[in-house]
Amino acid sequence: MLRRLHPEQPDSFAFTPENQAWAEAQIAKFPEGRQASAIIPLMWRAHEQEGWLTRPAIEGIADMLDMAYMRALEVASFYFQFQLQPTGSVAMIQICGTTSCMICGAEDLISVCREKIADKPHTVSADGKFSWEEVECQGACANAPMAMIGKDYYEDLTADRLREIIDELAAGRVPTPGPQNGRFASEPKSGLTSLKEFDSGQRKYNASAQLATDLGETVKRIDGTEVPLLAPWRDMGANHHPDPSKVVVRDAPLDIVTETGRIDADKAAQGDAAVSKAKPREDNTTAPAGEPGPRDDASIAKTSDATEKAPQMEGDATGTPTTEAKDASAKSGGAQGGAAATPDGKTPLPGTAGASAGRKPQTLTAPRDEAADDLKLIKGVGPKLEQMLHDMGFYHFDQIAAWTPEELAWVDQNLEDFKGRATRDEWVAQAKTLAAGGDTEFASRVKKGEVYE
Ligand code: FES
Repeated sequence: MLRRLHPEQPDSFAFTPENQAWAEAQIAKFPEGRQASAIIPLMWRAHEQEGWLTRPAIEGIADMLDMAYMRALEVASFYFQFQLQPTGSVAMIQICGTTSCMICGAEDLISVCREKIADKPHTVSADGKFSWEEVECQGACANAPMAMIGKDYYEDLTADRLREIIDELAAGRVPTPGPQNGRFASEPKSGLTSLKEFDSGQRKYNASAQLATDLGETVKRIDGTEVPLLAPWRDMGANHHPDPSKVVVRDAPLDIVTETGRIDADKAAQGDAAVSKAKPREDNTTAPAGEPGPRDDASIAKTSDATEKAPQMEGDATGTPTTEAKDASAKSGGAQGGAAATPDGKTPLPGTAGASAGRKPQTLTAPRDEAADDLKLIKGVGPKLEQMLHDMGFYHFDQIAAWTPEELAWVDQNLEDFKGRATRDEWVAQAKTLAAGGDTEFASRVKKGEVYE
């Protein structure tokens, strides 16, 4: 099969700010000089963002990785998983046509695609919502025939069921993935013949279908807002690298940082005073050892200035003494990979000895009336993070709701393995709703028992 760039291409490509941050973090995973190794994850992210891999995306990623365009095109054209032509805005339906699926009815499924989407594969339907193709074995042979739609497998399909699925998707509903004939997994259709005790503990859907349903990410494309960025290295991009001297400095937009260290191109475009630009190196190379990296510039100075001018809190509003600064210093020292916190509880940014990230909020030594709020009602706070917040002196929604941006930055930096989580999951906004007696969508789902750990 010939794989060529589509004749019609968009003028440009840009990652969303969240995807840009994610892409930078991917690049930071690889040793200096090996950044090109990040090409497949970056291309896949661009593919998920746009629905297909465009020429501007291929070339933009090649620029980010300092690769020749031809080398990037070789990767894009080699892997059939990369669609080189536009796909349906709702779903690209991939029908397995390999042996097991073929003898179980894959040809009937392909006929449905021809009838309902387009006669030829890789052609977008008249309404722009769907496209389809035949693919090789997807590893779900025990549930043949199957189709992959978005990120999900729809198995044990019949032609009629595939028609219904396409109609449901067109109507904006997402059918539950997994076996479509009542099977839980790949057990006999008539039910288990052994290990029957597992029947009693079975949930409605198998694990992957349940997870997809719970996340609500089925079929949706990743644009940085639909799917949380959970990779532990997510804070290791150009603006967060533990050793800024090792960061390869690219175009200026990548070096835009806010006071909290997050990339915010929109604010920069608006000339927000809280945003500053790091200077791109003209030779597009790594900053030599000992020379300041992208975080060692005006943005750091701005953060430090703001922090130093701010009055230091000695106790909370009720006069309760704050948690001992030395406790916080000890914790934050660990969180920074050995960088010692300053005596006032401020925490140096990674690789910026002496600089401070935000200001420590007021804390409590114990919950008021010995009754802490259930902080797990805040989306993104599980039992481990709740305990971490307690250890830091936060027990109540109103405490979190009152964090200023500087205080939020301090908390983010002191969340050890979860740095940045408070900003990313918008704890302050959630806490404001909960402190006012309201419920967020997540909190209501937890209370109804729809979310489980
Ligand atoms: S043959 Fe279709 S999934 Fe393996």
